[in-house]
Amino acid sequence: MNSKIKILGFGGSLREGSFNKALLYAAKEAVPENAEFEIFDKIGTFPLFNQKNENAMPLEVLEFKEKIKNSDAIVISTPEYNYSVPGYLKNAIDWASRPYGNNSFEDKPVAIMSASGGMLGGARAQYHLRQIFVFLNMHPINKPEVLVANAQEKIKDGIISDEKTKEQINKLLLALVEWTKSIKKL
Ligand code: FNR
Repeated sequence: MNSKIKILGFGGSLREGSFNKALLYAAKEAVPENAEFEIFDKIGTFPLFNQKNENAMPLEVLEFKEKIKNSDAIVISTPEYNYSVPGYLKNAIDWASRPYGNNSFEDKPVAIMSASGGMLGGARAQYHLRQIFVFLNMHPINKPEVLVANAQEKIKDGIISDEKTKEQINKLLLALVEWTKSIKKL
């Protein structure tokens, strides 16, 4: 295989100092040599999805859809809000899944990371995402899991101090590249 595997990462939260944004940046650093990692950081600018506009999408949404289509694999890093996925993330997913027949996520391998101030590290949001992936016909990787509990003790000013967390992110990126190669027969 000549060209590098293209991974697109998005998520994080909209707040400055987001733990989940720190995970995304760590994933970009951890990307193996045979892959490249781009972060799309504009999902917070998307308007609320309105089906009336799905055939005349805003430019930033079209850019997002194009980047997803041109990628071999996806990484989503998400906070857990009220035991689920934050609204802005679901909104971005809804946009990119439309219009009917033009789901940009179709057949893409995907890895999830989450960090939370709580003890479960965003596990419930991860399981809600997995349910969404069924409809999107994506291929989520199961292991290793990156669930960062009590994130305030492990991440400060966007820097991860916890070695175990960094190690898990490295392992996830390596596994995602292998998973992508096997699914896409690269
Ligand atoms: C939270 N938080 C939270 N944490 C958790 O473990 N389970 C939950 O269900 C929720 N629910 C929740 C709802 C809302 C609206 C907010 C704002 C927060 C706390 C959350 O883990 C914490 O704010 C993280 O710091 C969010 O991630 P970022 O912004 O650091 O990436």
